[in-house]
Amino acid sequence: MSDSQSGAAIEALGGETRTFPPPADFQAQALVSDRSLYEEADADREAFWARQARELLTWRTDFDTVLEWELPHAKWFVGGSLNVSENCLDRHVQAGNGDKVAYHWEGEPGDTRTFTYAELLDEVSRFANVLKDLGVAKGDRVCLYMPMIPELPIAMLACARIGAPHSVVFGGFSSNALADRINDAEAKVLITADAGYRRGEPSTLKPAADVALADTSSIEHVVVVDRCGTDPEMTEGRDHWWHDLMADASTDCPAEAMDSEDLLYLLYTSGTTGMPKGIMHTTGGYLTQVAFTHKYVFDIHPDTDVYWCAADIGWVTGHSYIVYGPLTNGVTSVMYEGVPNHPGNDRLWDMVERYGVTKFYTAPTAIRTFMKWGRQEVDRHDLSSLRVLGTVGEPINPEAWIWYHEVIGAERCPIVDTWWQTETGGMMIAPLPGVTTTRPGTATHALPGISAELVDDEGNPVAEGGGYLTITEPWPSMLRGIWGDEQRYVDTYWSRFEGRYFAGDGAKIDPDGYLWVLGRVDDVMNVSGHRLSTTEIESALVSHPSVAEAAVVGATDPTTGQIPIAYVIVRGDVEVTDDLGEVLRQHVAQEIGPIAKPRTVVLVPELPKTRSGKIMRRLLRDVAEGRDLGDTTTLADAGVVDEIKTRAQGGGDE
Ligand code: PRX
Repeated sequence: MSDSQSGAAIEALGGETRTFPPPADFQAQALVSDRSLYEEADADREAFWARQARELLTWRTDFDTVLEWELPHAKWFVGGSLNVSENCLDRHVQAGNGDKVAYHWEGEPGDTRTFTYAELLDEVSRFANVLKDLGVAKGDRVCLYMPMIPELPIAMLACARIGAPHSVVFGGFSSNALADRINDAEAKVLITADAGYRRGEPSTLKPAADVALADTSSIEHVVVVDRCGTDPEMTEGRDHWWHDLMADASTDCPAEAMDSEDLLYLLYTSGTTGMPKGIMHTTGGYLTQVAFTHKYVFDIHPDTDVYWCAADIGWVTGHSYIVYGPLTNGVTSVMYEGVPNHPGNDRLWDMVERYGVTKFYTAPTAIRTFMKWGRQEVDRHDLSSLRVLGTVGEPINPEAWIWYHEVIGAERCPIVDTWWQTETGGMMIAPLPGVTTTRPGTATHALPGISAELVDDEGNPVAEGGGYLTITEPWPSMLRGIWGDEQRYVDTYWSRFEGRYFAGDGAKIDPDGYLWVLGRVDDVMNVSGHRLSTTEIESALVSHPSVAEAAVVGATDPTTGQIPIAYVIVRGDVEVTDDLGEVLRQHVAQEIGPIAKPRTVVLVPELPKTRSGKIMRRLLRDVAEGRDLGDTTTLADAGVVDEIKTRAQGGGDE
């Protein structure tokens, strides 16, 4: 196992041609090791999904029609009824697996709680009864504003059990964001906690919820989990302690039979402007696709796997791949409350070792952070239990991919780079680890049953080169709409290219047919008439041994239209020399071409990120162009912006 820094120079994203076939011993035990699923789906897509729906789920009433498609409206598994919590819990208990661990939960301070499937079913049933007692009925929306504690999946499953759609609002959002989402959904009940642990301290939620509630009128009751003992203010009559309500609740709560197309949840995601969009996901199709993708992309063997998705349930990744996919498949999962660097930078690797994690799923931004912290944090731990490593959320630069492969996976674990969106509900473009020959930086090919195609500006298919990523056929877990805004649904996703779902991403197909998702189209800049991906330039920068992380934006330039500006975090062990900026500019010129050379390289201690870890390029663009900063309320650390502004105004490192 060699550190990628000391190995051969890593090619920039554009030139990456290395391939990694599935290791023979992995393939020998894999659920699929040939193209049969692709062939089956190609031959008859609807029959393929119908088979998955019937094999992976338990239906109360079988469906009679696989798909009703009236563009842009899809109904999957029409006439079928089922209950999601029953699929996640009851049937595993009935099958004799009640004693199997569903979640190994670990709090940030190190406290642990273990829930078997039988225990989880009891908790969910009790809380479902609590919700009913509070007047929640089928169809009522319930808002969840919680830390990463077991009560969060319990509350989600309780909602699903009684047919009340949930709307989870990420615990890092502000009270304004919470109020907007409560109001848009007209939620009846809010479930929250006093606080959750982050970086060693309670990070409060209830006070923010109280502020939000002053601006909302639909909430009748608030249920509060006492996680940190911070003694929040409780409003008489409205606010109730979780533990008080649960004390007398019965564990008997029959699951409601839901129509396949009944709303399972709303999840709000930002658009380019205005109010966040309440993305609607329904029952049968959603659960089929998340169960299918979870099972086959992670090659799940429920008897031996310990699976860990290190995301937050406040985002779609957590909904689909911490809660609904893994529980439907009856696997044992790890769930963690806090930050990855408490008490030390090796917290996650310590947990992988202690729980014997076999499948691990995280984001490129996290991987680059681990790179920054250095491999000594990893090497202290025995990670030999790991079998598959996943990534999601943004393009992964080949350098980070190789680091993940070598340092975390010991060159043994297939890497599954999974492209999907809040709107798609489940994975869309990803390898099957026993089948696909992977290539660093690309999510490879559309999964069986999914049809992705690149098109040019006029909507003509592109067989090789750059284009816009579109989906040409409806898929089971597709969004069914935007809550309360039908027109915005049509305009945002179905109007740019006739007859196609437009994902908003730019991509390219290389000569070998690999799909490279390059990022949102507004992250693609035009320099002298040449389209350049910020991701491509970032990859080039990160491939330099002195760079830990980089963000590139296009600033307006009177001559070239746009010109790249690079913000760079230097690796901890690198000595910063006066000419480093120039060295990096030349490095980019060498990796991609002189046209991609950043005008300025600004050395920064941190990059401004949203709480989900996405780099806020809009903000960097504003800094680059000397404008006033826009809305920074979703910044992980507002101080970072000032620092960047100061450095940028100082000319950076020209
Ligand atoms: O731009 C793509 C990027 O993340 C966007 C979706 O973001 P969100 O709805 O927050 O969901 C993230 C988790 C599913 C996409 O439009 N994206 C996501 N995964 C990848 C990716 N870009 C490249 N490669 C990926 N694997």
